[in-house]
Amino acid sequence: MAHAHLTINPAFTVGPVRRRLFGGFVEHLGRHIYDGIHEPGHPSAGPDGFRRDVIDLVKELGISTVRYPGGNFVSGYNWEDGVGPVAERPRRLDLAWHSTETNQVGLHEFQHWLDLVGGELMLAVNLGTRGPKEAAELLEYTNVPGGTARAAQRAANGRQEPFGIAMWCLGNEMDGPWQLGHRDAEDYGKLAAMTAKAMRQVDPDLKLVACGSSGRGMPTFGEWERVVLTHAYDDVDYISCHAYYQEHDGDLGSFLASGVDMDSYIESVVATVDHVRTVKRSSKRVDLAFDEWNIWYMSRWQEQARTFTIDEWPVAPRLLEDRYTVADAVVLGGLLISLLNHADRVTSANLAQLVNVIAPIMTEPGGPAWRQTTFFPFSVTSQAARGDALRVLVDADETTTATFGAVPVVAAAATSDGPTLSVFLQNRHLSEATTVTIDLRASQPTGAVSARGIWDTDVRAANDLRDTQRVGLRTNDTARLSDGLLTVELPPVSWTALTVARTASDEV
Ligand code: AHR
Repeated sequence: MAHAHLTINPAFTVGPVRRRLFGGFVEHLGRHIYDGIHEPGHPSAGPDGFRRDVIDLVKELGISTVRYPGGNFVSGYNWEDGVGPVAERPRRLDLAWHSTETNQVGLHEFQHWLDLVGGELMLAVNLGTRGPKEAAELLEYTNVPGGTARAAQRAANGRQEPFGIAMWCLGNEMDGPWQLGHRDAEDYGKLAAMTAKAMRQVDPDLKLVACGSSGRGMPTFGEWERVVLTHAYDDVDYISCHAYYQEHDGDLGSFLASGVDMDSYIESVVATVDHVRTVKRSSKRVDLAFDEWNIWYMSRWQEQARTFTIDEWPVAPRLLEDRYTVADAVVLGGLLISLLNHADRVTSANLAQLVNVIAPIMTEPGGPAWRQTTFFPFSVTSQAARGDALRVLVDADETTTATFGAVPVVAAAATSDGPTLSVFLQNRHLSEATTVTIDLRASQPTGAVSARGIWDTDVRAANDLRDTQRVGLRTNDTARLSDGLLTVELPPVSWTALTVARTASDEV
């Protein structure tokens, strides 16, 4: 049995937990939109073609902001193709995913879907094959109340009121050689600054995200952020981070510690951002938008990548449809712990993606929609992480991993909104339970404790079409509170959320 001792004092905060930390991402990719969220003729679809069973699951997941329409897709996208009468919209080649884009869903339809799920739109502009002019025109279309050609076009297309979109991404992964219009940091930094200035001339009240690296493994990582921000620091509010994790060569121990990698990724980008701030003698703070993060078995996708012919442009092919296990869910819970522990600087984040494509929700055409294992840590954290993220002092036994060396056997984060304290725990031990003692004496706990999470004797168990409910949330009934000390036993390879009622006090 391993042991961990945690100390939590609600007076010691990291920062507020913003709702935008629980964002999602919907890209025109594979069966995400077509045959995913949008399936006219499905028994649960409304007259608008959107599946209500999927909408219910997205609401239950607790998604806030949704990034759209890509991703790699956006770098070849003409937003004008997706507005106006649906029957007149062009079918286009999607070069990013070698598919046909039918444009049956565009800006208006997607905003309508977001209204149904209660989400905020985060719109990405195409800086791959287009530039500041088209970005400013799109912004005129979405945000200018009236009196211009683009605003009139919007009204003619059925929407008198502006969309009022606040969050904008200045392109996508422009450091990646796979990106249409990929460029170096100097060129992208200048383009991002130019585009941001043009967009602010239309609407000064925007939150703009410059592209950071598409992963910390990129050869230009670090220098990319420094050079881009040297050009664009004064013009943007965020720099993006992207990270996808997977188990390599059966090394579950290292995979479980992926949060260690995310911690150091975030801290490296913060250091680089603040270096530029220092050099510029700026009082402005640029935050991090972790606008793509998830588990993605990218190596399987790369192995399967096909060579296409000129006449092969499928509509909504099955792409990137990873099936997630209990172990994957435990890792995803650990990544959420990392994000919460950096809530002071990561003030926006998007799980990539949402439905069918590396997604917590799966659907079958004409059939059911179901929750993947990764759905559970996300939905519980989104619901329970409220108020302020708190500093957690962790004194734990260690476990040795091939990639990260010795790491604490338990990862932890905590939040409190006053009356409730939530603690999120990941046990990284492959075979042993860990007893955790949490010193909550400064938190005035009242005694009402609940603990739920995800673990299984078969860490490879998953939900799929054959058994959509094999894995679900479990209740951990080992939690005990006595004299302000809470003890709980965490099963091996597990993720757990504790909620503790507090005597609400003013200092929180
Ligand atoms: O999320 C899938 C893809 O991953 C996105 O389109 C791209 O931005 C990233 O490389």
